[in-house]
Amino acid sequence: MKTATFFDTISQSTPPALLEQMGQFLVGVEEELRVQTNSRVKTVEEISRLTLDGGGKRLRPALVHLAARATGREFDSSRTQKLGAAMEMIHMATLIHDDVIDDAALRRGRPTAFSVHGNTASILGGDFLLARAMSLLAQDGDLPIIRMVSEAVVELAEGEVRELELRGILNLSKDDHFQVLRMKTAGFIECCCRLGGMIAGATEAEVNALGEFGHQLGMAFQIADDILDYQGDPTKTGKPLATDFVEGCATLPLIELLPTLRPEQIAWLESLFSKEAHEEELRNLADLMNEHGSVARAQMEAENRIQIGRQSLCRLPESAERDLMCAVAEFVVQRES
Ligand code: IPE
Ligand code: IPE
Ligand code: MG
Ligand code: MG
Repeated sequence: MKTATFFDTISQSTPPALLEQMGQFLVGVEEELRVQTNSRVKTVEEISRLTLDGGGKRLRPALVHLAARATGREFDSSRTQKLGAAMEMIHMATLIHDDVIDDAALRRGRPTAFSVHGNTASILGGDFLLARAMSLLAQDGDLPIIRMVSEAVVELAEGEVRELELRGILNLSKDDHFQVLRMKTAGFIECCCRLGGMIAGATEAEVNALGEFGHQLGMAFQIADDILDYQGDPTKTGKPLATDFVEGCATLPLIELLPTLRPEQIAWLESLFSKEAHEEELRNLADLMNEHGSVARAQMEAENRIQIGRQSLCRLPESAERDLMCAVAEFVVQRES
């Protein structure tokens, strides 16, 4: 069966057979996710399915499989499927928890679990997904993989809490900000890429090349997400406008804007930051970011990271899979959702 995935739209030069293979892989992941989100408790199942049925790019399982293929080695694709599904479930759990933390009403164009079922059930629903993912990892039984994924989840949780610690600081330093991005997003995407390499039995050097690519991709990915928070079309992103600003999270477009402002403009920002604001004020802010070039500078940071990531893939053999990974990286910084 052929399903449309974001892979079909990102690369004109990918051989159709590879696209077909990726499509089939993702169909298998979807089936696994459906099985894994079964629960005898109706609310638990509803919370998981709300997130699952909203779609999403399935970027993380796709990276697991693609990274394995990019090594050019034979591997058992039922493992990338199961472990890819486990990574997507961990991602789903973090999204459910993140929406509680961020007070977010919309995700993937649908009401969030938090807005339908409230905080308590959503936190437990996220825990359920996390535990199911760990169970899949245990069934696979590869200790180095279990250790790596567990550590990535630890880092992700720490990153979300570190972001909380830094909330409300308008003049956040880039160092502090990048530390959060590394911990909450890039580490996990790096882990997905490493995981693919490990499943394929790649050498340490190959796994490190995939990891470096994943790290840079992850940083660029979150920067692009933070640009979309201000500049995206909510009907495409499926998320409300300027949640980060309303929640008091300073991200790169804002950090880049600050040094370009006059004192009265900074006072205006301070009066709005970390509060419920009118949509019109938020649109004015988004326009200011464009006029002052801060969106362009943030975009440049993301694109530079993609270039560095692409270079590290040169340490793998040339292949259509490697090219597709580069196309994924390009897509990540150009995406609208
Ligand atoms: C959203 O991730 C959370 C971030 C790390 C920015 P995605 O943009 O991959 O979300 P889905 O899975 O496609 O919904
Ligand atoms: C990413 O942060 C969330 C996780 C790593 C779980 P955001 O809070 O920016 O993500 P969105 O915008 O809600 O998807
Ligand atoms: Mg959020
Ligand atoms: Mg968040």
